[in-house]
Amino acid sequence: MPEATANIGVVGLAVMGSNLARNLASREGNTVAVYNRSRAKTDELLTEHPEAGFVPAFSYDEFAASLTVPRTAVIMVKAGAGTDAVIDELVKVFEPGDIIVDGGNALFTDTIRREKAVRDTGINFVGMGVSGGEEGALLGPSLMPGGSDESWVTLGPILRSIAAVAEGEPCVTHVGHDGAGHFVKMVHNGIEYADMQLIAEAYDLIRRGTGKTPAEIADVFAQWNEGELNSYLIEITAEVLRAQDAATGAPLVDVIVDQAGAKGTGGWTVQTAIDLGVPVSGIAEAVFARSVSSHPEQRAVAANLPGPVDELRVDDAEAFIEDVRLALFASKIVAYSQGFDEIRAGAAQYGWTIDLGAVAKIWRGGCIIRAQFLNRISDAYAEVPDLQVLLTAPYFVDALQRAQDAWRRIVAQAAAAGIPSPAFSSSLAYYDGLRADRLPAALIQGQRDFFGAHTYRRVDREGTFHTLWSGDRSEITAEDTH
Ligand SMILES: NC(=O)c1ccc[n+]([C@@H]2O[C@H](COP(=O)([O-])OP(=O)(O)OC[C@H]3O[C@@H](n4cnc5c(N)ncnc54)[C@H](OP(=O)(O)O)[C@@H]3O)[C@@H](O)[C@H]2O)c1
Repeated sequence: MPEATANIGVVGLAVMGSNLARNLASREGNTVAVYNRSRAKTDELLTEHPEAGFVPAFSYDEFAASLTVPRTAVIMVKAGAGTDAVIDELVKVFEPGDIIVDGGNALFTDTIRREKAVRDTGINFVGMGVSGGEEGALLGPSLMPGGSDESWVTLGPILRSIAAVAEGEPCVTHVGHDGAGHFVKMVHNGIEYADMQLIAEAYDLIRRGTGKTPAEIADVFAQWNEGELNSYLIEITAEVLRAQDAATGAPLVDVIVDQAGAKGTGGWTVQTAIDLGVPVSGIAEAVFARSVSSHPEQRAVAANLPGPVDELRVDDAEAFIEDVRLALFASKIVAYSQGFDEIRAGAAQYGWTIDLGAVAKIWRGGCIIRAQFLNRISDAYAEVPDLQVLLTAPYFVDALQRAQDAWRRIVAQAAAAGIPSPAFSSSLAYYDGLRADRLPAALIQGQRDFFGAHTYRRVDREGTFHTLWSGDRSEITAEDTH
């Protein structure tokens, strides 16, 4: 058996695990034990990175023996059954007080279940969201750990040392207990879906409205990246639009099949929001827009459906592009507001104390949705920690005031020209729904009472009422049946 020399270990040495292990090994004071189910990945990592001084293990017993107490292991394996399989093995060789961290993309309810099961053995289990892809894992990810306060004492310094740094602060915070970290990572991914869809709609409108080439539109995005939209996603959009296909010389974006894939976390965000009763319509439209794109058979049979006669005609390209920019900014505010709403609701439902401002801060570096704008979100929560609706913070109200006319023009122009802009338009509908004095939900309650005796409340009196629709249509008080 090896001597206990490593202060942290990584299980699962595919791209994410090996990069995270290298990141850990590169930081002062860390010695990293590594283990992978099949030996080849371990051998490869050791050969390619002798500088890391890894302590290899070829069985779980060896892995446990190579770790100092409290043993701390980060699992980076295929989420799902793989994670359960590794936890089962680690629990056999670890002892009470040791720490198992799952850095995979686990569904937060699985993390809650695993935390409960592992806690019974006296071992700490921490579900940790890791954002930033391969490069983030290697150079500095945004980290969203959940789990117990006890495990944070050991993990905090290690995670702070490997996380991305934004404005001098490491992009990691103890998000909350058990599944809180994976919940927040899930919503992060949902917001990422919305942000990407909004950018794609902006590109499409500019291209169809102004006839600019992808390379010219790349310049527009590069310019936007200098202002309030400054973010990683805007930056890489310019790069993708500027890329040329080596084989054909065409813009790369024109030779890529227009069907967007998904790994499921956007869908989880929407499903969870539905369970919590939180309207994340911008995120939902982004998820569904990918799904519309990925049904070529349906798109083929629908291709000849009638559309408007007139195409989008833009007289003043510069003014139009500025309108699109403002529509994008306003819709983005809605997407983030909805995402933070879901985190608030999740925290209330699962009993987590989540500092929303701290979440905004740890997303400023390392992760895919990193953006300057997140500072404004943390400012908003610093001022009013229990802010009900993020977009009602003064900075966002000003921005929406500035953007709303342009936003409305863009949604109207897109609809008139038959250009799909589901995320722009649903964000605007949500905004108008929120600020409406009175919604037609009253009519829906009337309909529900008509066919299902679901009852309604009145604006002028306390109580719950039902109209005897199939009788004499008089009103009676009734038990609230929702
Ligand atoms: N890729 C990203 O950008 C990204 C970003 C954030 C989070 N993540 C998450 O990070 C985790 C790792 O991602 P990845 O792309 O590096 O790898 P992956 O392709 O998701 O998983 C491959 C790794 O899982 C191991 N594995 C699978 N089933 C196992 C089992 N039953 N028992 C033990 N090990 C098992 C494999 O071992 P073998 O070599 O023996 O097959 C291999 O090391 C995933 O949960 C992923 O969702 C990925």
